[in-house]
Formats: sequence, structure tokens, C-alpha cells
Amino acid sequence: MYILGGTSSEDMARELAKISGEPLLEREIRRFPDGELYVRLLKKVENEDVVIIQNTYPDENIIELLLLQDAVSEGNAKNVMVVIPYYGYGRQDKQFLDGEAVSAKALAQHISLKADRVILVDPHKEHILNFFSIPAQSCSPVEEIANYLKKKKVEMLLAPDKGALERVETIANLMGCEYDYLEKKRIDANTVVMETKSLDVKNKIIAIVDDIISTGGTMAKAVEELKRQGASRVLAVCTHGLFIGNAIEKLEKAKCDEIASTDTIKSKYSKIKIASAISKIL
Ligand code: R5P
Repeated sequence: MYILGGTSSEDMARELAKISGEPLLEREIRRFPDGELYVRLLKKVENEDVVIIQNTYPDENIIELLLLQDAVSEGNAKNVMVVIPYYGYGRQDKQFLDGEAVSAKALAQHISLKADRVILVDPHKEHILNFFSIPAQSCSPVEEIANYLKKKKVEMLLAPDKGALERVETIANLMGCEYDYLEKKRIDANTVVMETKSLDVKNKIIAIVDDIISTGGTMAKAVEELKRQGASRVLAVCTHGLFIGNAIEKLEKAKCDEIASTDTIKSKYSKIKIASAISKIL
């Protein structure tokens, strides 16, 4: 078996190769003078199993993934598994308005053309897996997040909305701590409000855990609310840290004590490594 990391996920591929004891597949990825991408595998993959790791965010990583899949398929690999740490376009998972593209489905159909199996890390909704025409499964980094939060002596977990409650409940059960959720109302893509709900957070170390921090609006409002109710420390934690625009500034302004994400998207906040979770289901 070979592990083939795309440019979005080189560190994770290295980590996965180390944990699984499988070799990394060397490749050349560069751009032509006009900006088009060039991909070449530097080893033969005929009759080999190949695991490709690459995000579908931002857009240029989608092209790279499709070209990596093509190179592996042209090389007559036996089995191609695609691991997508962050499945970009996952939030457009249905038609919210007439005439819209269902982006999560469109992308899944293209990826399915040259792969035998796909793994998505913490997809926005589980039903996205059904958009693939090949076996698809999700990989949940709950154990890795729980271990991290235990070290931080977190006493209680909060979901910023009901949709994030299941993940929070699983992590809280692994940690043996209490959990609850906030009531979020989204006004538009940039504005959310938290309904007031009385929580037992006074003088406690709390972590708010979500799948994505994008503009930071959801998390900042949740942090503000918990601080207002007397929490002593509040950590903002997510699987996928996009941190768009002034997201970090918003969290700091809300007096967030720590920001942490997994390493599905690399940043200075990607403190929780999850290659071990992927290695368990390869
Ligand atoms: C929403 O359903 C997601 O779980 C996140 O809460 C959301 O994507 C976060 O977005 P933002 O950081 O822009 O509030």
C-alpha cells in the first residue's frame, strides 16, 4: 500500500505513513507558466493499493485531487481510496432555493469516478456520504478531541447549536463530563444570535465544540454567552478550522481563552492530530 498526500495534507500523509508503517508515494506537483496544474507519480503503482489524502478546499485542491486520482488510475493501481480530511462544499448539501446547484453531490459524483472507496473526516452532514456512488464512510476525530480536552482540564462541553449536540455528547461521554447545548438562530451567512438559556457554567472550564469554525460568528456568540454566565475559561474547539476573514479577531474580542482545531486544515490552531483516527479505518 502507498500513502499519497496532496499539497493540502502533506503533514497528515506523513503522519499516517508513520502510524500505518506504509510508504509515502513520491510525486511531483507543479504549475505550468499559465497556472495550470501538473501531477506526476514518481513510482509505479500497478496492482498496488493507494490511499490519496487531499482536501476539497479551497478550489485549487479539488483539481489537484482529481489529477492525483487520474494519475493513480492511469498507473493501474488495484484499489484507490480517497481520504478527504475537509470536504469543502459539504455545506451546500441540498437545494435551499430553486435553481441552486447541490455542490456536495456534484463533487461527490466526480470523485467517485476514479476511486473505489472514500473516507470523509467529520462531514457536515452524514447524508453527504450517500452522494458518492462508491462505498463511503465518515471518520470521527472524537477520541483525539476528547484526549486533548482532558489535558486542558475541561469540565463541561457545550454545543453551539442542537445540530452539534451528538458530537459533543460523544466527546463528553469519552471524557466523563457534563454537556449541554445553546440555541442558535442564524440570521444570514454572517450573523447569528444566541437565545438566552441558563446553564450551569459558573466558574467552570468550558469547551464549545463544533464541526466548523468559518467566519467565527457562531463560536464568538457562544463564547460571549458563556462568559456572560460566569464561565472561568472558554475554549473554542472545532474539527475544521477555516477561520475566514476576521474570525480570530471576533473570538479574541469575545474573550475566548483558547482556540483549537484538528489538523484537517493546517493553521497555527490545528493542535489536535487525527491521523490515528484515519489509520484505524484504512
Ligand atoms: C453550522 O451548521 C456549522 O456547524 C457551523 O456552526 C458553522 O458552519 C459555523 O460557521 P460560522 O463560523 O461562519 O458561524
